[in-house]
Amino acid sequence: MKKSLGVVLVASAMMMFTAACGNSGDSKTASSTTAAAAVSPSTAAVATAKADKKITMGFAQVGAESGWRSANTKSVQDSAKEAGIELKFSDAQQKQENQIKSIRTYIQQKVDVIAFSPVVESGWDTVLKEAKDAGIPVILTDRAVDSKDTSLYKTFIGSDFVEEGRSAGKWVVDKYKDAKETVNIVELQGTTGSAPANDRKAGFGEIIKSNPNLKIIASQTGDFTRAKGKEVMQAFLKANKNINVLYAHNDDMALGAIQAIEEAGLKPGKDIIIISVDGVKDGFVAASEGKINFIVECNPLLGGQLMQAAKDVLSGKELPKRIVTKEGVFTSEDAKRELPNRQY
Ligand code: AHR
Repeated sequence: MKKSLGVVLVASAMMMFTAACGNSGDSKTASSTTAAAAVSPSTAAVATAKADKKITMGFAQVGAESGWRSANTKSVQDSAKEAGIELKFSDAQQKQENQIKSIRTYIQQKVDVIAFSPVVESGWDTVLKEAKDAGIPVILTDRAVDSKDTSLYKTFIGSDFVEEGRSAGKWVVDKYKDAKETVNIVELQGTTGSAPANDRKAGFGEIIKSNPNLKIIASQTGDFTRAKGKEVMQAFLKANKNINVLYAHNDDMALGAIQAIEEAGLKPGKDIIIISVDGVKDGFVAASEGKINFIVECNPLLGGQLMQAAKDVLSGKELPKRIVTKEGVFTSEDAKRELPNRQY
C-alpha cells in the first residue's frame, strides 16, 4: 500500500527545472556561462559575477512548533553547508511580525537571496516589494503567500496541501462507504490563516461532502503543536460524547490528542479513528502501534531543492513559479514496515 517517498518535481515543472538544474549552480562551468549568455550578454555578466562570490541567504523560518519543522530546519541548515551557501537563519516563533522584521534585516544586510516559509498566507506584499526594489530575489519554501503579484517571488517550492487534505478525505470516505449512521468527525486545524491549515481543511471538506453521513461536528486550531492539540482534544471530548474520527492537520497535534484520548479512558485508533498529516518518526511510531490509522505524508526535506533554486536564480535562470513536492500515504501496516527507514 505504501506509495512513493521522496522529493521529485511534478512532470511539467520537472522538465523545466531539471533543465535549469542541468548546468549545476556553478557558474564557472562552461555550460552554465553559455546558458546565462543565452539570456543576454549583460544579464550573463551580472549573473556570473553574482554566482562567482559566495552566496549569502537570509532564511526566515516559521518557528519550532513541530517535529516536521525541526526536520525542515535541519534540512535547510545542512543543505546550505553542503552547497557552500552562507546562511543567516531566524526563528519567527510563529509570528508574522517577527518574520517581516527578519526579512527587513536581511534587506538591510544586502543578502543575495531571501527564502522564507510564511507563517500565514496574507499580508506580505509590502515587504516583498521592499525586497524586489532592493533587487533581492525571494524564494518561498513550504508555505505560500496569497499575493496577486507573482513577480514578488521567484518560485514556490513545497507540498500541495489541498491534495494532502483530499488524500485524508478519500481514506475516510472509503472507510465509511457502508456507514448507515452519522460519522462524527472532529478536526484539529493548523495555525489559523496558514496555507496548510486553509488548504488541508478545504481539500478534506471537498472530498467528504460526497457522503452526507460524514459530519464535522467540531473544528478548532491546535496551532500545529502537541500541547495545543491535547488541550483542544480535551475540550472536544468534554463537549461531545460520541466522537468517531479525529482529523489532525499534523502529527504533533494528533500525538497530543492521543494523550487526551487515553486519559479519557478511550483507545486511540479504535474508539476514535485518527488521521493525520506529516509522517514524522513519532507519528510513524504511533501509527505502527495502531494509534494513528492513516498518515498523509508532507515532506520537510526541502533544503537541497532550495539551495539549488537559489544558485539557479542568481545565475539568471528562470525557474517554474511552482515546484511541487511529491509525497506518499501510509496506513498503520505501512508505517510498521517503513518505521526503520524514517529519517526524521
Ligand atoms: O507547513 C507545514 C506544516 O507546518 C507541517 O505540516 C506542520 O507540522 C508544520 O508545523
